[in-house]
Amino acid sequence: MRQRIASAWSFRFHVEREAQARFSRLALWMEQSGAPEAVVELARRSAEDERRHAAHCAALARDYGAPVSEEAPVVLPEIAPHSLSFSQRTLYELVAACCVAETVSVGVLMRLRSVAGDERIRAVLHELLQDEVAHSRLGWAYLAHVAPSESVAFLGRFLPDMIEATAAEAGQPTALTPEDDDPALLPHGVLPHAERRALFASAMRDVVMPGLEQHGVPTGPAREWLERHGLG
Ligand SMILES: [Fe+2]
Ligand SMILES: [Fe+2]
Repeated sequence: MRQRIASAWSFRFHVEREAQARFSRLALWMEQSGAPEAVVELARRSAEDERRHAAHCAALARDYGAPVSEEAPVVLPEIAPHSLSFSQRTLYELVAACCVAETVSVGVLMRLRSVAGDERIRAVLHELLQDEVAHSRLGWAYLAHVAPSESVAFLGRFLPDMIEATAAEAGQPTALTPEDDDPALLPHGVLPHAERRALFASAMRDVVMPGLEQHGVPTGPAREWLERHGLG
């Protein structure tokens, strides 16, 4: 059980490190795309938040018995297709990272915070939650900034890929064994698999799809993907 908890925090550590690197790169990209300084600054601050999150996750992974290497270099793949223009790729990564992934995190962290088993876990989850809310807003703010002047409709056909990538990440690392549905994991900040799926589905249905539609991104292919995977 401790091992499963440790591996969940260790996995989260890697996700936070990658998020840190991604926000640093996005700040640069947005600057080059001529985004308002306020959103660029928000991306820089987000990178700093993710650095703090990674440190918390590393400490918890270590204390549950699975130390992580905090010095290891981060490999940061570009997730947007190269057929897109630079400004489209910037928007793609922001939407994938913020509007989709961070929104899912917010739902997960809200649930976990409400059942935290001790003050330390609760404090870490609270800090993560507050920041991830801001990171999610950054994506929506950038989408709102871009939508009136550029077409954002192209995102529609890529949404299934974005959702699939987030679903794969959200399913880790407790997706494999049935005992990971053990509710005893919850107080330690680890969401059982079935609940993870349910929270993912509701984040998509209640926040992500309506938000994207509101900004003019067609969600037909995404909704089909969700239906097909039992998440609609
Ligand atoms: Fe984070
Ligand atoms: Fe974040």
